[in-house]
Parts: sequence; structure tokens; C-alpha cells
Amino acid sequence: MTNSLLDLKFLTRVQLEKVFFLAREIKRAPLKPEFLGQTAALLFFEPSTRTRLSFESACVRAGLGPLVFQGGAGTSMEKGESLEDTLMNVAAMKPAVIVLRAGDDFHLSQVARELSMPILNAGWGRYGHPTQALLDLFTIHERKSLEGLKILFVGDIAHSRVAASHFEILPLFNAQVGICGPESLLPKESNFRKFSTLREGLSWADAVVCLRYQLERHDSGGKDLKQEIRQSYAFTKEMLPKLPKDTLILHPGPVNQSVEMDAEVYRDERSLILDQVSHGVWLREALLRLLLKGDWV
Ligand code: NCD
Repeated sequence: MTNSLLDLKFLTRVQLEKVFFLAREIKRAPLKPEFLGQTAALLFFEPSTRTRLSFESACVRAGLGPLVFQGGAGTSMEKGESLEDTLMNVAAMKPAVIVLRAGDDFHLSQVARELSMPILNAGWGRYGHPTQALLDLFTIHERKSLEGLKILFVGDIAHSRVAASHFEILPLFNAQVGICGPESLLPKESNFRKFSTLREGLSWADAVVCLRYQLERHDSGGKDLKQEIRQSYAFTKEMLPKLPKDTLILHPGPVNQSVEMDAEVYRDERSLILDQVSHGVWLREALLRLLLKGDWV
């Protein structure tokens, strides 16, 4: 279905500028609800806090009634109904849009072809999380130019759908990408600049995106990995004094403060982690408005 957002592979600069422009307008002052009487189905078959609630908030602000499905508890999935059947039944209620989060084995592109309403990917296994990458870039763009940006990803890059979506769109700005993390959690092949220590990477980067270790997606977890992360790749408070004043610190959340980042880093004045959350609402609202009006070309 056209008007869907499944990934960022073919996103153009014009589309990006349109959504950033509208998100900035919304940030400045709320817009009138445009879609009163219509609904948006928010189907989350994997856990979520920020993404689900920010989509819910964005829907309400745009005038869309959110129909929220979170996990299977209390639903007919407990009686054995499949994810696909659940989705088809919700689609039969004719929401104006479906926002969907599901695991690796879900056939997102096929489902999007079969349904008549726009589908928004709100996190698909390890493949992509396009709205998160967009809101991260919007957050950076509020402070710095994205052109030629040096952006460092730290942590479990191989399993991060957030990083995967960034890698699809960053070439649009000729951004330089740095990576840093345990060898087993780095992409197997890439032209990215590899830093063996976080300190080294931090002295190079304009912005650093810390990532959670996706221990639910692989079994290379355990005590040894956690120790390796703490020793070599955790963003600790000792690194703050040497960090340049204008380096931006981001994390899509949820943050495991005792693992990849210290609480002091989370709360540092260079940290934009809670700005990312606010921007998630404006950006998603802008996206919904543009997509539903067929205005995002
Ligand atoms: C991320 C996700 O679910 O992919 N979080 C988010 O949506 N804000 C990152 C994560 O789970 O680590």
C-alpha cells in the first residue's frame, strides 16, 4: 500500500524536510485535530512504552481515536488466535491506519500489500524501526546540521532495528558512521569506522547513539558479555569531563542504566534522551497527518 512507512530505504530529502517542518510546527503550537471520527489501530505484539504511548498521544492530538492492542494478554490470542488473524480482524474494522510492532518472523511487506490502509512500522524484529530513526535525526537536527554528521553507534549494533533504520537513511546526508561494541555484536561487514574503545569514539563523534543490548534477540548474553560491556563499552560518568561540550548523547530507550550507561550520563546536560521522547510525539503526529492526507510524497 502506498502511504505506508515500512522502512527508510527510499525516503527522499523532500519527504524528510516535510515531516521535520511539520513536527517543528507542532512543537511550537498544537494544531487542530484533523481526523475526528476516524480510528488508528496500534497493534503491539512486542513490548513497548515510548513508541506505543507516543503514537497514542500523536493520534489523540491529530483527532484519531486509538484502538490499542498490547501483547496477547486479555485478548483472543490467549484462546489460540494467531497474530495474522488478529491483524485481519482489526483491519476489518477499517481503521484509517495501522501502526504495527512485531517480531522477526512477521511478514510485514506482504501484509502491507494485502491491506488497504497505510501501515506504519513501529519496530519490526531486528529489521527496522523507521520512526525512531526519524525522531532521533529530528532531535539532532534541532541542534546541529545533519550534513556530514559524525555519528557513533555504541553497543548491540548487529541486533538493533534502530541502528538498521539509521543505516538506511544516513547516506542521504553524507553522514560518517562510527561503530563501537563487542565484536560479536557488530555488523559482520560494513564500511563504518570501527573504534575499539568508547573513549576513542567519543573524541571523534558529533553525536553518540547508545543502544540497549538486545538480550531477547540472541543468546550471546550472560555474565561474560555484561562484564565485557561494563569494562569496555559502557558510557560511564568518568567519561563526561573529557567529552566535548557540544557532543550530543542519545539513546532510543529503554536504558539499562547499570549496563550500557551510567545514570550521570543519562542526566548530563548533553543528553537528549528525554527530548527524543518528546520529539517522538511531534514527529509521529506529523507523519500521521501527512500520510493520511496523502501529502507525503
Ligand atoms: C527500541 C525498540 O523497541 O526497538 N526502543 C524504542 O522503540 N524506543 C530499542 C530497544 O528496544 O532497545
